Amino acid sequence: MKIVTSSTELADGCAFVPTMGALHAGHVSLFELARKKSDFVVASIFVNPLQFEDQEELTKYPRTPERDIELAESSGVTHLWLPTYEEIYPAGFPKRSAGKLGEIFEGASRAGHFDGVVTVVARLFELVRPKISIFGEKDFQQLSLIRNLVTDLNLDIEIAAAPTIREADGLAMSSRNVRLDQNSRDQALVLYRALSAAAIAPDLMSAQSALQEVAKSQTGFTLDYAEIVDEKDFSKATYETQNKRAIIAGWLNGVRLIDNMEMKLGATR
Ligand code: PAF
Repeated sequence: MKIVTSSTELADGCAFVPTMGALHAGHVSLFELARKKSDFVVASIFVNPLQFEDQEELTKYPRTPERDIELAESSGVTHLWLPTYEEIYPAGFPKRSAGKLGEIFEGASRAGHFDGVVTVVARLFELVRPKISIFGEKDFQQLSLIRNLVTDLNLDIEIAAAPTIREADGLAMSSRNVRLDQNSRDQALVLYRALSAAAIAPDLMSAQSALQEVAKSQTGFTLDYAEIVDEKDFSKATYETQNKRAIIAGWLNGVRLIDNMEMKLGATR
């Protein structure tokens, strides 16, 4: 694996996995999928200041450079790109807007977050010029916004979605999990329990009730939202909605956690 600091050292047409580091098994699955798609896998590590609402969150974001290099190397990454701030954001670089979808759910609780995400991803795509880029379903709203971005900019980049990787007990892997103490780690299972309860419900209405009921039942968990939405535009799902997804977010001891799950409740239920 080659470690590069300038995008000029990368050739076009790779499979690209953008990350903010603090790599874990979830990222490994993205790298492995990228490797199946191409012999030339670029991963970037750039903690993007634009997508953090405040300085404190940015400072608290975990940074594990040595482990990241090891994990990337052992998971099929051929080029690890560690860009400088100046390369990503040259003076006067314009900020993009994520539009309406960027303002609801995650976007409503984290003002400007998705504007920062689409801005950096557009710039990374411009510099890397990949043929395919892989994103995790864990951040489902982000994935939808990236798909919209590629359509809006008319980019010839395939966006591949990788399923959420979970711990043995169901907790979705996230770089933020390291900030949970043991008690919060146990309580964090509420997200998976709520989604799973919704997934086995017989119809949409009972799925919505189950999701809310479990989400509100956990001491210590401050629920932000728990909703079943249309995957297309994140509007509230109805019985007619083809592709339904339950989404949930909240805080445990100051740590924000999100998760989601496909709802196969059937088109007419
Ligand atoms: O999902 C992430 O890690 C980040 O939002 C991304 C896509 C690398 C942009 O900074």
